[in-house]
Amino acid sequence: MASQTKLAISEEEGDLLLRVRRGGEGWQVLVRLSPRPLATRPWRVANMPGALNGPVAAAMNALTYPQPTDCYLNIACGSGSLLAERAAVGPPALLAGCDLNPEALRAAQANTGGAAVLTHADAAHLPYPSATFDVLTCDLPWGQLVGSHVGNAQLYPALLAEAGRVARPQARFALITHDIRLLEQTLANQTAWQTTERLKIRQGNIQPAIFILEKV
Ligand SMILES: C[S@@+](CC[C@H](N)C(=O)[O-])C[C@H]1O[C@@H](n2cnc3c(N)ncnc32)[C@H](O)[C@@H]1O
Repeated sequence: MASQTKLAISEEEGDLLLRVRRGGEGWQVLVRLSPRPLATRPWRVANMPGALNGPVAAAMNALTYPQPTDCYLNIACGSGSLLAERAAVGPPALLAGCDLNPEALRAAQANTGGAAVLTHADAAHLPYPSATFDVLTCDLPWGQLVGSHVGNAQLYPALLAEAGRVARPQARFALITHDIRLLEQTLANQTAWQTTERLKIRQGNIQPAIFILEKV
């Protein structure tokens, strides 16, 4: 390829990345035309283990059909990927996030540049009045890098119930997890939320799912 294209091979500094790999019954060629991966976001100045991929966060927000009048809450916001991506498409009326981990909240503060109202709070006891938010998002603990399956079995039902309390009627709620069966079981055992979409995505070797819910 180098001789055909007259391009020099550079292991570290190349501006064109070609990856050839087996895929299905044939081969796949992946092409990256810029030196930085698409997932590199200018707003990310603080990282945390388990931080959500920027384009995935952008896709989740797009699935909530963002409006400038939205009161938006990101539960368990971690380093604030969903908040930063939401701010990037134009500020909503209220941009709020909460997390139990103070270090995550400091990272979210840095990544959102102060655009979000951040609160130290447990997702099972949210410090907001009932029927406040039009849009909610949550990158749940997947039970791998963050949290555990046993912990999730307690957290998911409590979180969905509290999200239901603080959501306005017809609110839109985008969630992502790799603990998919647990979230499906939790959704089947509650009545506050109705599932409108379920999308499997591929992230490296794992396939988490995005759920879009509507407040009943
Ligand atoms: C998968 S991480 C979120 C990562 C985030 N989307 C980001 O981009 O950095 C899940 C988050 O849930 C938080 N968390 C776990 N249990 C919680 C609880 N009971 N209440 C609030 N936050 C919780 C963790 O501190 C962690 O930041």
